[in-house]
Amino acid sequence: MNTIFLFTLIFHILLFITLTLPSSTASSGSWQILHNSIGIPAMHMQLLHTDHVVMFDRTDFGLSNLSLPNGMCRHFKNGNVSRTDCTAHAIEYDVASNKVRGLFLQSEVWCSSASVMADGMLVQTGGFNEGERKVRTYIPCSNSSCEWKEIDGGLNVKRWYSTNHALPDGRQIIIGGQGQFNYEFFPKSSNDKDTYSLPFLVETYDKFVQNNLYPFVFLNLDGNLFIFANNRAILFNYKNNTVVRIYPTIPDGGNPRCYPSTGSAVMLPLKNLESKNIEAEVLICGGAPIGSWQQTREGQFWEALRTCARIKITDPNAMWKMEDMPRGRVMNDMVMLPNGNVLIINGAALGTAGWEQAVNPVLNPFLYKPENENGSRFEVLNPTTIPRMYHSSTVLLRDGRVIVGGSNPHQYYEYKTSFYPTELSLEAFSPPYLDPMFAPLRPKILEPSSQANLTYGKYFRMSFQVNGTLVTDSVYVTMLAPPFNTHSFSMNQRLLVLTTTEVNTTGNSTYEFNVRTPISSVLAPLGFYIIFVVHQEIPSEGIWIRISD
Ligand SMILES: *[C@@H]1O[C@H](CO)[C@@H](O)[C@H](O)[C@H]1NC(C)=O
Ligand SMILES: *[C@@H]1O[C@H](CO)[C@@H](O)[C@H](O)[C@H]1NC(C)=O
Ligand SMILES: *[C@@H]1O[C@H](CO)[C@@H](O)[C@H](O)[C@H]1NC(C)=O
Ligand SMILES: *[C@@H]1O[C@H](CO)[C@@H](O)[C@H](O)[C@H]1NC(C)=O
Ligand SMILES: *[C@@H]1O[C@H](CO)[C@@H](O)[C@H](O)[C@H]1NC(C)=O
Ligand SMILES: *[C@@H]1O[C@H](CO)[C@@H](O)[C@H](O)[C@H]1NC(C)=O
Ligand SMILES: *[C@@H]1O[C@H](CO)[C@@H](O)[C@H](O)[C@H]1NC(C)=O
Ligand SMILES: *[C@@H]1O[C@H](CO)[C@@H](O)[C@H](O)[C@H]1NC(C)=O
Ligand SMILES: *[C@@H]1O[C@H](CO)[C@@H](O)[C@H](O)[C@H]1NC(C)=O
Repeated sequence: MNTIFLFTLIFHILLFITLTLPSSTASSGSWQILHNSIGIPAMHMQLLHTDHVVMFDRTDFGLSNLSLPNGMCRHFKNGNVSRTDCTAHAIEYDVASNKVRGLFLQSEVWCSSASVMADGMLVQTGGFNEGERKVRTYIPCSNSSCEWKEIDGGLNVKRWYSTNHALPDGRQIIIGGQGQFNYEFFPKSSNDKDTYSLPFLVETYDKFVQNNLYPFVFLNLDGNLFIFANNRAILFNYKNNTVVRIYPTIPDGGNPRCYPSTGSAVMLPLKNLESKNIEAEVLICGGAPIGSWQQTREGQFWEALRTCARIKITDPNAMWKMEDMPRGRVMNDMVMLPNGNVLIINGAALGTAGWEQAVNPVLNPFLYKPENENGSRFEVLNPTTIPRMYHSSTVLLRDGRVIVGGSNPHQYYEYKTSFYPTELSLEAFSPPYLDPMFAPLRPKILEPSSQANLTYGKYFRMSFQVNGTLVTDSVYVTMLAPPFNTHSFSMNQRLLVLTTTEVNTTGNSTYEFNVRTPISSVLAPLGFYIIFVVHQEIPSEGIWIRISD
């Protein structure tokens, strides 16, 4: 036997082993109830680098189903009636112990927004009534001692239904909101105390329905912001308040995608980070057709939009490309999975966002594979049994599960109604990649250690273990910014596919390579990220890293 023949034989044996391993399409995911009641319907969610998820609802719905710790109570006036509320409207969920701790909110956070700062502190902005101009900070802790702190007048104007995004300089921008056609920053530097006007939000304002609330905002690779409201987008230079580019309207007759005709959007994985011609794409799915919202007021529920629109936002001549989901969907969340696929989850088939304005929950998540050919990108996954309608939320955990909470399409807590009762449960969806049959393919990160501190544009050594046969050219590393999720949009959600060197075998099913961090805070704003090693689309459990200058 000559050597070439031997190598060919070995190659074919390896190939055979690879091909006979189950493919990730063989499994359709599974659901698990984590809690029947976490005490609140989770309207807003953020995963923090302590592996705690902060969730909050609103403070003037009435009493929640969870008492505040240590006999704490909030005393407030409702009109001229004094009230006392000793229940929690925010919680800290500890992933490892599956336990919930009530947090004390002093003012109304309903339909607000937030973003995590470079140091890991959660900054929540705005809300309603006495909470509408407040900023609330939450510094993550591991000893159950942390609480919200309120900054009075932290915002220049009231913000309700705004969108926040982390900026390359470590601050955040807060855009729009009900009646606000402008933006501001947090924290403010001495030379930007102001609120800056954004006429695009006037242009995209629908006088009956609005449709430009919770705009979809992404940081483009040239440092400008891609801002989508209603049915179209601009590229916006927030530094000197200029519109850099006007993108075309989605070619479907102008159907709205933003609140309350709520669809959702993601920036697709950023890859080829070393290339001069690096590209960024945005995918928008679902929403409600023109006129749908008014119909719901008459008790008529129209079919939600079935289309997704995808655009290369880095391309000056960009055009939207349309494709169809397996079915129409409104109030759908879009979650970037560690392997670069998109999970479309929650929401309904008929109606719009708003109180009691949707029916026919879509219980099946859809998987969208952006790298596949048009026509073979979607898969329908296993359904939950719990409708997740208006005011539900979802985030990805470091272990690859996706947690889902909330749903309360009513003005108050209504547990007894037959029309989508207030939902206090917390559920986890395990995407197909978590199926135990993929255990032999699943990498385990050995190095770097959790909470590693990294800087921009540097190689770091990464080692991992895979017990089954490693297919070296299907190993990649992703880096995820955990988003703030509310009203079906995940602010700051961003996944990068990092540059890696060749994989070396170090023995005993262990491997190593060098991985390059993104070169700038425009690609990846400062702060905490989760890094995953992915092998044949099966991700490892992630590790937290912090990237700084
Ligand atoms: C409220 O919480 C209790 C447990 O503390 C639970 O038994 C009850 O079912 C919850 N109520 C609802 C409506 O989920
Ligand atoms: C409470 O306020 C209403 C007006 O909002 C007023 O009519 C009423 O007299 C007030 N009640 C008391 C007890 O002050
Ligand atoms: C909890 O940890 C924080 C640091 O994260 C520390 O400042 C604080 O004193 C600790 N509190 C208690 C009660 O141990
Ligand atoms: C805004 O800044 C960009 C990039 O620095 C520049 O090209 C543009 O001319 C500026 N526009 C105005 C109106 O200052
Ligand atoms: C995808 O295919 C559908 C028909 O199957 C077509 O209408 C649509 O334009 C295609 N979209 C893209 C992005 O090529
Ligand atoms: C490989 O197998 C060993 C022994 O069963 C186990 O301890 C280890 O966690 C496995 N590694 C991975 C990456 O699954
Ligand atoms: C990263 O730096 C922080 C302090 O800035 C420190 O607490 C942490 O332990 C460091 N992480 C590692 C893995 O050394
Ligand atoms: C290989 O890994 C196994 C299980 O992870 C361990 O028991 C064994 O000591 C390792 N062998 C070497 C040579 O590192
Ligand atoms: C992998 O092996 C090559 C060739 O021996 C070496 O140059 C490279 O540094 C190794 N990579 C790592 C991460 O050690």
